[in-house]
Amino acid sequence: MNADDLFKQSIENKEQFWKEQAQEISWFEFPNQIISKDENNYTQWFADGKLNMSYLCIDKHIEDGFGEEIAIIYDSPVTNQKKKYTFNQAKEEISKLAGGLISLGLKNSDTAVIYMPMIPQTLFAMLACARIGVIHNVVFGGFAPHELVVRIDDCKPKALITATAGIEIAKRIPYLPLVEKAIELAQDKVENIIVFNRKLADNQDEMFEGIIDYEELVSKSEPSDCVSVESNHPLYLLYTSGTTGKPKGITRDTGGYATALKFSMKYIYGIEQGEAFWAASDFGWAVGHSYSVYGPLINRNTTIIFEGKPIMTPDAGTFWRIISEYKVSAMFTAPTAIRAIKKEDPNGELIKKYDLRHFKKQFLAGERCDVATLDWFEKHIGVPAIDHWWQTESGSPMLGLMTFNDDYKIKRAAAGKPIPGYDIKIFDENGYELDEHKEGYLVIKLPLPPGALLGVWNDYERFEKSYLSQYKGYYFSGDGAIKDEDGYIFITGRVDDVINVAGHRLSTSEMEEIVSSHPAVAECAVVGIDDDLRGQVPFATVVLKNGSEISEENIEKEIILKVREKIGAVAFLKSVMIVKRLPKTRSGKILRKLIRTIIDGKEFQIPSTIDDEKIIDEIQEKFKTYKDKK
Ligand code: COA
Ligand code: AMP
Repeated sequence: MNADDLFKQSIENKEQFWKEQAQEISWFEFPNQIISKDENNYTQWFADGKLNMSYLCIDKHIEDGFGEEIAIIYDSPVTNQKKKYTFNQAKEEISKLAGGLISLGLKNSDTAVIYMPMIPQTLFAMLACARIGVIHNVVFGGFAPHELVVRIDDCKPKALITATAGIEIAKRIPYLPLVEKAIELAQDKVENIIVFNRKLADNQDEMFEGIIDYEELVSKSEPSDCVSVESNHPLYLLYTSGTTGKPKGITRDTGGYATALKFSMKYIYGIEQGEAFWAASDFGWAVGHSYSVYGPLINRNTTIIFEGKPIMTPDAGTFWRIISEYKVSAMFTAPTAIRAIKKEDPNGELIKKYDLRHFKKQFLAGERCDVATLDWFEKHIGVPAIDHWWQTESGSPMLGLMTFNDDYKIKRAAAGKPIPGYDIKIFDENGYELDEHKEGYLVIKLPLPPGALLGVWNDYERFEKSYLSQYKGYYFSGDGAIKDEDGYIFITGRVDDVINVAGHRLSTSEMEEIVSSHPAVAECAVVGIDDDLRGQVPFATVVLKNGSEISEENIEKEIILKVREKIGAVAFLKSVMIVKRLPKTRSGKILRKLIRTIIDGKEFQIPSTIDDEKIIDEIQEKFKTYKDKK
């Protein structure tokens, strides 16, 4: 069957199609109900099926005789460590940690927050939770305590699993002071704080009182077996930025997700069992969940945990060293990582040092990939660079190419064609489908296929409002897009307050809330402007309160620090421009798109609703002086 047939079947005969895909994974009880509705009349997949994700990732392969194959490779240029774990060894670690969690009183349906760097213990913690039905929430290590607090307050974890420190290139990031602060600020006490002591050479970490030592817990605990959970049992929560300041707890099921991941490994990534697959993403993002942990392990691929950056650890050849050393056959990263490498090694000199014979495909996602980067990649690496589009909400690609039979055609700058299960349309504002080559909103006809979000944690209303209320019967993606005559779709960018900074999804409204909380700020607008390396970076335009005496320089510094302290260094707000007033519509709405276009130096049309056109000159002039000063 070719890709088009698979797509057609997935839409026209969805029940049969996904039943067959579900048969590709091992269930404790295969579902009788393939598609049904929950209490909110929202679609559920495989409702009466029973399974366990940790079993699928580890135990199943041992039972099939692959226990001594390599499941996980940890490669850490920042600590000079390399380590391999077989499926048998991984099972030992995971099952004993699971036993440890049970001994602390954790049980099926409790939640646990995991705030850890790129080390094997993070993956073990995720799979240990999955093993006993504990719902995990991994928090990206680059987030500040405030972000941790928001998540703790929302999901009320029974345990917080962390490590003493992370390492950013050569900089040590001590986690414990951040955790301590978060616990102090959180509404409820977290009963169990489990800390993996990394025992780094220059160990300066102060353990605080009452913590549980990760290694001690593992060594003294009995291994725990996999519990059987229902297909719609939440495997994890992953908070992501939305249109309001508060992140949304995207809730992922177990059975539909496992089915979708298995499907994607086979058909989209076209990877054989036993091969090495590497998604160079942090565990704290959706890619890290789906393609550094669950997808490759379900498919019995060796997964690679990389603790480093594409550059400077130690150089821009590090990706190619890993691909060569571990015979990686397919890799997944964000375009920003390739741009960073391209900048450091424009002529691809470092690439020549490595044998990339086993490398077949490069997948890119997280942000739009510019054609120059694609061209550089293909020229110097010589393997196809395949863009694909997805979101935390979907958990696996929604647009892309089905590479399983090598019968696919890359169209540069397009994110691909709809993936089976995703009936994608481009709508205008009023919900009418647009013709080819017209830009509109990317929407997906319901029901979404298996693996897509179950909802927003404990908040059906917010789920409905964020995704289902814009166009009845459709999921609203928040992205703009254009379709061409061959069915390829080009993503034009977010149409809401979400920006993508170096592949990190952030909310400008969350930043605006922080900027506005500065006592001297009357109002502000934060927009995402173009950036050669990071794709986008935030830019704040600020109006000060009358009579405010603070200098522009000082307010800029204070605002930058405030955002860094609240969200984390990843927010990357480095520019704050003070203006007399913001451009607004006659009804008082800030014209953020206009500000963005002016700062980007692009052509713009003056909105007909603008209150006072003169403000455009004011902003342009101010920006010119601002730029000259920098
Ligand atoms: N823990 C603590 N701090 C972190 C962090 C983490 N996990 N990740 C990033 N930071 C910090 C950085 O140290 C930096 O801090 P600084 O301002 O004090 O220097 C800041 O956040 C910005 O980080 P980043 O945007 O990553 O910049 P960088 O210069 O360190 O690296 C890239 C630039 C492009 C190499 C890097 O962003 C990258 O590899 N991006 C790809 C991301 C990706 O793969 N995403 C996958 C999603 S599909
Ligand atoms: P995240 O939830 O962090 O994966 O971010 C999802 C958002 O990233 C999408 O809504 C898009 O705006 C953007 N995105 C992801 N993949 C692509 C891509 N291939 N091309 C353009 N934008 C992308």
